[in-house]
Amino acid sequence: MSDDHAQLREDLARVREFFTSRAAGWDAKFSGDGPAYRAAVAELALRSGDHVLDAGCGTGRALPALREAVGAQGTVLGADLTPAMIDTAVEAGRHVCGQLLVADVARLPLRSEVLDAVFAAGLISHLPRPEDNLRELARVVRPGGRLALFHPVGRAALAARQGRQITPDDLRAKQHLRPLLARSGWRMTSYVDTDARFLALATRQL
Ligand SMILES: C[S@@+](CC[C@H](N)C(=O)[O-])C[C@H]1O[C@@H](n2cnc3c(N)ncnc32)[C@H](O)[C@@H]1O
Repeated sequence: MSDDHAQLREDLARVREFFTSRAAGWDAKFSGDGPAYRAAVAELALRSGDHVLDAGCGTGRALPALREAVGAQGTVLGADLTPAMIDTAVEAGRHVCGQLLVADVARLPLRSEVLDAVFAAGLISHLPRPEDNLRELARVVRPGGRLALFHPVGRAALAARQGRQITPDDLRAKQHLRPLLARSGWRMTSYVDTDARFLALATRQL
């Protein structure tokens, strides 16, 4: 195994371990976030019958809003690297909103261009290879389809909550995120970073 590959496996194992230990208490810890998720999903402008993926779905907090948006004829998928997060989603009954898979967003078990949109909350800062991983998300979305990168608190508020400061190289800063998305097959169409939320919207390049 190459050093690079071994490092990647280590990174993913670390992410899985981090979220495994937090899975059971995740929903209780962030119980007030429901309206923020609903509002963010609304900005994806999904239509009845659309096919949407919640990438890094965790305990599936966005899944009820995604299902409502695409209706009974639509498809909702939730993919997460951490089996314990998926288990917690099932315990919370969110599997009725969509199909849940344990999967790495770096290698999605989906054909190219089958989705209309991807919703990803709290995911991007955990990706070991953001450019490659965002390109994989672009692969599975049709040209003109949409991406929402969301967090229920903005970058500064999140950093304060975690007792750290935003570093100048922060991936989610507008000046870094726009070119990163462009290199990965996306065109950023809007960017909001307030204490109340972080939401970057992008369109899959044609
Ligand atoms: C901060 S949590 C957010 C969970 C959920 N989206 C939410 O908003 O409550 C990040 C989630 O991304 C998942 N994740 C991290 N890297 C991933 C990857 N490469 N592929 C799939 N899921 C990943 C983690 O397992 C975790 O459940």
